[in-house]
Amino acid sequence: MSAAADIAADKVVAALRPSEYTGALIQVLRAESRRVRGANVLEIGSGSGVVLAALGAMGAASLCGVDIEREAVAAGSRLLDELGHGAAAQFHHGDMWQPMRGRRFDLVVANLPHFPMTHGSFAGRHQSWSYGGADGRRLLDPFLEGLAGHLTSHGRAIVTHNAFVGLEKSRKILRCHGLELTVASTVLVHIPTDKAELMTAAIRDAEEGRTIYRYGPYLFADMHIVEIASAQDLA
Ligand SMILES: C[S@@+](CC[C@H](N)C(=O)[O-])C[C@H]1O[C@@H](n2cnc3c(N)ncnc32)[C@H](O)[C@@H]1O
Repeated sequence: MSAAADIAADKVVAALRPSEYTGALIQVLRAESRRVRGANVLEIGSGSGVVLAALGAMGAASLCGVDIEREAVAAGSRLLDELGHGAAAQFHHGDMWQPMRGRRFDLVVANLPHFPMTHGSFAGRHQSWSYGGADGRRLLDPFLEGLAGHLTSHGRAIVTHNAFVGLEKSRKILRCHGLELTVASTVLVHIPTDKAELMTAAIRDAEEGRTIYRYGPYLFADMHIVEIASAQDLA
């Protein structure tokens, strides 16, 4: 590889590096490993592919990833090949449910971009990593609307969900499709200054002291990992 190609490859790896959201999602999945073993799994927004790699290591039967960024599709594919899960894995380039029309999965996972912001990017990421539109729900809402149509009869989704974009709104959408949501875990995440500066001001102002906590110049927020399934399967 030439030096220029090396630098470009390093930039891709850096842009797709896992975050504390990724770690928290993997932690809940590890605690649910009995649901993962033998499951057909889909990840919407697969990024580096590391969440699917963790699911592969836990014994998922098949691993399917969708991402809007071509370089994420390539990176995910490469990672799963390197880790010996290539035969069970497939990656699709496209917009959320669009490449998965007609397909259902036992487990759907997602760490969607859902940070309330209308412009910009931060920390060397692509804008598509976090960009959630003014209310943060630009992708979350269509994800929740389409989910029931992609789950098997006892299927389940496990998803990251910033507290400051409204759990109740998510519950309301899901109930229209016969699904319920429960919080599996809550993690306090640091919001770095460059990210905080991009946050929709109305949400920051409304949520400070509720789900967002400021200590001098430092901002933290509650981030949930939620599980979604039918009411009887969540009980
Ligand atoms: C926050 S990152 C999560 C990546 C990875 N799952 C992780 O946890 O490390 C969100 C991912 O969603 C992808 N994405 C953004 N918009 C998308 C869309 N409309 N359809 C599919 N993927 C999308 C981004 O390219 C990015 O890889």
